[in-house]
Amino acid sequence: MLSYQSGFGNEHATEAVVGALPVGQNTPQHVPFGLYAEQISGTAFTVPRHRSRRVWLYRIRPSAMHGPYKRISNGTLGGALSDPSPNRFRWDPLIFPDKSTDFVAGIVTMLANTDTTGGTGVSVHIYRANADMERVFWNADGELLIVPQSGRLDIATELGAMEIAPGEIAVIPRGIRFRVALPDGKSRGYICENHGQALCLPNLGPIGANGLANPRDFLFPVARFEDSDCETELVQKYMGSLWATTLKHCPFDVVAWHGNLAPYKYDLARFMAIGTVGVDHPDPSIFTVLTAPTDTDGVANVDFVIFPPRWMVAEHTFRPPWFHRNIMNECMGLVHGAYDAKAAGFIPGGLSLHGMLSAHGPDAPTVARAIEAELAPTKLTDTLAFMFETRQVLHPTQHALTIPERQTDYDSTWDGLPKMFTGNTP
Ligand SMILES: [Fe+2]
Repeated sequence: MLSYQSGFGNEHATEAVVGALPVGQNTPQHVPFGLYAEQISGTAFTVPRHRSRRVWLYRIRPSAMHGPYKRISNGTLGGALSDPSPNRFRWDPLIFPDKSTDFVAGIVTMLANTDTTGGTGVSVHIYRANADMERVFWNADGELLIVPQSGRLDIATELGAMEIAPGEIAVIPRGIRFRVALPDGKSRGYICENHGQALCLPNLGPIGANGLANPRDFLFPVARFEDSDCETELVQKYMGSLWATTLKHCPFDVVAWHGNLAPYKYDLARFMAIGTVGVDHPDPSIFTVLTAPTDTDGVANVDFVIFPPRWMVAEHTFRPPWFHRNIMNECMGLVHGAYDAKAAGFIPGGLSLHGMLSAHGPDAPTVARAIEAELAPTKLTDTLAFMFETRQVLHPTQHALTIPERQTDYDSTWDGLPKMFTGNTP
């Protein structure tokens, strides 16, 4: 059973050996136990204090001890993007590979903005892995929001270890080294690579001080170290390409750390869902777990929004998600169960893209059911859908357009919606 420390945005402090954290200063002449002090700055030094992210590491060897990185194959990570398309897209769950494939090799980039190297935008990946990582990975291009859909992940990081299962999420900041093992033998899920400002909790406005994802439910690892001289392959993603070097030691040798730039996990079952108790729907922003802001107030680089189990009590209301066109770009996935806007076709592990202002909404069976429904209070159970909603147009990769999991008949989802207009009848 792993230990965690809780609290989003807190200045965490943890030591695997009592007394390893220097007291009163960050860089004493003699760090306790002969450790090296090393800072990782996740934001520019002078950003406003509420956005500042940095961590002080006290480690056995400094990270600077490595030889040159050399380019290695990207596999299915990244790749050429298709031209922007106003069409709607949907994919079935990607099948697992036959050959041994670790978490990094199992990443398939599905969607991305035109320029993901400029400190803005997102890339959306699906991973499907069947082998533990023996190498260690880190990403210079963005933080990784990992949403497992099938199979648990054991994530060892420089700052400690985390275990996540479907229904939970993990976020690995830029620059933090990590290694993923698969306690269930294989795992599939989604990754939102956020190239912009770091994810944070949304403002709550009139909701007040409580609700949605509460800060104390975000769990951060405690310090844990391996003092090993085993050779370790260290792979980084840098400006879209993979590079590798070999260390003569294990990079998970941080004995103590303090700061607020750290990986974390969150159990989506702890989300306090808020909805109407009268009529109609709030916009789905009411279900925002985390948001990556931009320089424009209220316009996110990406919002991570969930559609969890919840009571539906609205009177006189078409209760499923309604028809809409949205200036933002909506990429959706499904962890388990069914999504209440679709009777079929959107299944756990699947992915959909409804780009800027594309028209979408419930399918014909869902409309028929919703219009006829008895509007007693009902609870949506066995459902956990989510959305990565981003302001920049997402392009499918050329690879994503050609794989057999793509549903080329997705437009037919909206076939058969009956004309119900009665205004022509005197
Ligand atoms: Fe939508």
